Amino acid sequence: MSSAGVVPLLGRVAAAVSEAIARVRPETADADPVVRRSDRADFQSNAALPLAKRVGMPPAQLGGELATHVDVTDGVIADVQVSGPGFLNITLTDSAVWETVAARLADVRLGVPTTEDGRRVVIDYSAPNVAKEMHVGHLRTTIIGDSLARVLGFLGADVVRANHLGDWGTQFGMLIQYIDERPESPWHTEELDSDTSSVSALDSLYKAARAQFDSDPSFADRARNRVVALQAGDPETVARWREIVAESEKAFGAIYDRLGVLLTPDDYIGESFYNDQLADTVTELVDKGVAVDSDGAIVVLSEQVKGTDNQPAVLMARKRDGGYGYDSTDLATIRYSIASLHADRLLYVTDSRQALHFQLVFEAARRVGWLTDAIGVDHVAYGTILGPDGKPFKTRAGGTVRLMDLLDEAVARVRAVVAEKNPDLTSAELDTIAEQAGIGAVKYADLSTSRVKDYTFDAGRMTSLNGNTGVYLQYAHARVCSILRKAGAATRATVDTLGPLEPAERELALALDGYGAVLGEVAEVLEPHRLAGYLYDLARAYTSFYDSCPVIAADEPIRSNRIALCQLTARTLELGLGQLGIAAPQRM
Ligand code: ARG
Repeated sequence: MSSAGVVPLLGRVAAAVSEAIARVRPETADADPVVRRSDRADFQSNAALPLAKRVGMPPAQLGGELATHVDVTDGVIADVQVSGPGFLNITLTDSAVWETVAARLADVRLGVPTTEDGRRVVIDYSAPNVAKEMHVGHLRTTIIGDSLARVLGFLGADVVRANHLGDWGTQFGMLIQYIDERPESPWHTEELDSDTSSVSALDSLYKAARAQFDSDPSFADRARNRVVALQAGDPETVARWREIVAESEKAFGAIYDRLGVLLTPDDYIGESFYNDQLADTVTELVDKGVAVDSDGAIVVLSEQVKGTDNQPAVLMARKRDGGYGYDSTDLATIRYSIASLHADRLLYVTDSRQALHFQLVFEAARRVGWLTDAIGVDHVAYGTILGPDGKPFKTRAGGTVRLMDLLDEAVARVRAVVAEKNPDLTSAELDTIAEQAGIGAVKYADLSTSRVKDYTFDAGRMTSLNGNTGVYLQYAHARVCSILRKAGAATRATVDTLGPLEPAERELALALDGYGAVLGEVAEVLEPHRLAGYLYDLARAYTSFYDSCPVIAADEPIRSNRIALCQLTARTLELGLGQLGIAAPQRM
């Protein structure tokens, strides 16, 4: 459902400055009003400086003219002062601030408009590989992609969560042959103990198959024949492959449930899905002159990127042996997303080492005409998770860190921290809180870091109650809920828009008013850490407010107004954490 939302105060101030510009200098009515929050007043406009240059006038004089032309009669802006070289310091009326709080509180969406309404966004994320364990390398794509899916979805986009599962390739022929020759080796979920997942069993079987393939030529032959059988659609082989995919999907589902991400079986649209589109995709690329023959292989030679040998970078549309690989599938995928899913925007959430691959895919898609300027496309690249030694995160023994183990560790840490703070909690309560806070801590540590940077996985720091952590924010939210319970504030508080407004109340109200703008930014630049940073600042603005403005003991109408601020804070924190995919328990 589309919603126009509540216009943020910043937007109203910007509109008032724009009107003033149009009045003073009609020929520059298009100028940016350059309004931002300020600690001198509520907002500051820097419009006069660039504008003065444009019209050849001293900035202070232009600033003065603008100031007298800003409308202060409609009850929003109380005062405009010129300062320094021509800045406008703009103060709002108290009633405009309270009205905004009331309007946001009255709206289920907290007044955030559906700015992405009607746009179809395909987000390629998570994409683990069948018959392999999900490991630390799949964490970032899964949670960054999920947060973007939530934010864009909330803003009204029609989000397609495309889980590009690695479920196809010659390795499955080998694995199937190996499994069939060893009917006694368990790998189905029901045959395994609860600590071993089917993918971990399959992972081991695959490694063993690989070893035999390398050492036993007759097995290698049988394995190759099995690849041919799989590709030719031999019913028994295909049935076995399906079984392996289904078992792997169960194991992925268990991780998704635990992580609390939106991905469901409906979102699996793996590499195999594109299998019967590969030939047509290559034909179209060749017909349109984008792909060419190179020694029997069909390749796309980049017009933009050169490799180290100063030759054009290559995308392999079809291999010399007629086989199709990762490049081929991504070409078919982008074609399908545009032609059949009618995507307006495509996001690929993978680590930054795949930057060149996607650059080449996008270039090819543009040259062949699938990708037009009307369609947005981004490789949402992210950095590496590092271990304490500053190198890519590994187990002590040097192996890959299983995602489940990493989550277990964080949950165990939080359990200890919370148990110490709340000795009265029952073991069951403790389990629930530890799970929500532990998973939240891992997600928040990741999402609060600038996406393109590497970061160090530090379970101790991410589960701390202090500083910019998920646990801190969850506590902040739970504290507001507890105050609301003590105040007996079960229903929405009535705001007296003529009530007084303390500086700390003002700060908090203006912070709350900025929520929609932050979501808009996240949707544009695809950086969830901006939302994380916003929530952290909001929690701190709330703390300052609470330290200087008693809520429960205050007289009316101050008490109700403060309860309204608490309610709006609790709901904004809950919604914001939710958009990072993090739970906001009422009690901790
Ligand atoms: N399955 C791949 C991996 O685990 C990631 C796939 C990313 N998506 C894509 N369309 N290539 O590394």
